[in-house]
Amino acid sequence: VLDKTYTIRATSNIAFIKYWGRRNHELNLPYNSSISMTLDENLSATTSVEFSNSFKEDMLIIDGKRQDLNFQRSEKASYLRRALEHARKTAGLNAHALVVSENNFPSGTGLASSAAGAAALSLAIVKALDLKIDTREISKIARQVSGSGCRSLHGGIVKWHRGTHHDGSDSFAEQLFDTSYWPELIDLVAIVTTSSKKVSSSEGHTLTPRTSRLYDLRPKIAEAEAKKAETAIRNRDFNLLAEIVMRDSNNLHAVCLDSWPPIIYLNDVSRAIIYAIHELNENYGKNVAAYTFDAGANAHIITTQKHRAAVEGTLSSINGIKRVLYSKQGNGPRLLSEGKSLINDEVIRHTGIYKY
Ligand code: DP6
Repeated sequence: VLDKTYTIRATSNIAFIKYWGRRNHELNLPYNSSISMTLDENLSATTSVEFSNSFKEDMLIIDGKRQDLNFQRSEKASYLRRALEHARKTAGLNAHALVVSENNFPSGTGLASSAAGAAALSLAIVKALDLKIDTREISKIARQVSGSGCRSLHGGIVKWHRGTHHDGSDSFAEQLFDTSYWPELIDLVAIVTTSSKKVSSSEGHTLTPRTSRLYDLRPKIAEAEAKKAETAIRNRDFNLLAEIVMRDSNNLHAVCLDSWPPIIYLNDVSRAIIYAIHELNENYGKNVAAYTFDAGANAHIITTQKHRAAVEGTLSSINGIKRVLYSKQGNGPRLLSEGKSLINDEVIRHTGIYKY
């Protein structure tokens, strides 16, 4: 398994019921279950991993930039270190790893996906070490790299079970419906801002439960809504699903505002989109589209193929939207052929990772 590179491409996902707030920091365990739709390869991360005894250290390169794994204050670095340690222990090996990752997110959109990256990384590590573990176990590795990342291990509609055990053994993601169940569901991403967020989701997961007085209500509401969302999807009831999706997004941004100091992700353009989608739905006399916002001002509009043009028309009338991306449901991660590897002799020489 050593000295061979494995490359995985994984895609982003958009949560219908969102993860906000962790009950266990070390293990990245959420207060509530979440449900998401995996996106297609328009929004993906590709990660190559190679383990070798001739490497003198672990090295991570994202979009051509070397990341400092020893930077103590970087949580991402420590999550990655932990994922590597865990995998090495399972494999009974000491070899160091070279990890090279690239996002294909259209440049200038400000979109980046920790979810796609975490899923690709976790799978590539497991492949590279030939670990005989099932998807549930891989899910737990990905979860610890980035919570939303465990959902990107599957295609279609996915649920991340919050679990109840203290050790996180029952907190993993699984597929609810594959892409063929309701292929009409799509996501139109309205790019509103390209600047990065002031408060990372990781900080928010800690700050909100600790300071928001409204947060106590959220886990119970979200858990119940997740069950309703599952039923709405099973019945292909878009009208109901859309209301659940919009209200969960609003609920998240309400507890963000109620945090102290307040966390504000939405801006005037985001709000204009919210109003416009409500107006569109009113004109139809039923919900044909749903907005949902993650930790940022960019809007994801969930709709069906049938109403794509109507939603695009609505979005085109709003000032301040830079561009609109389109994504169908994605099938989940896949292993790429050796020819597609991001690691080659030249990259290795360039890194100076060899011992000798
Ligand atoms: C608002 O998965 O990015 O997008 O575990 O710290 O990497 P970390 O957090 P992350 O949080 C996602 C927050 C969200 C909602 C969601 O995708 O569920």
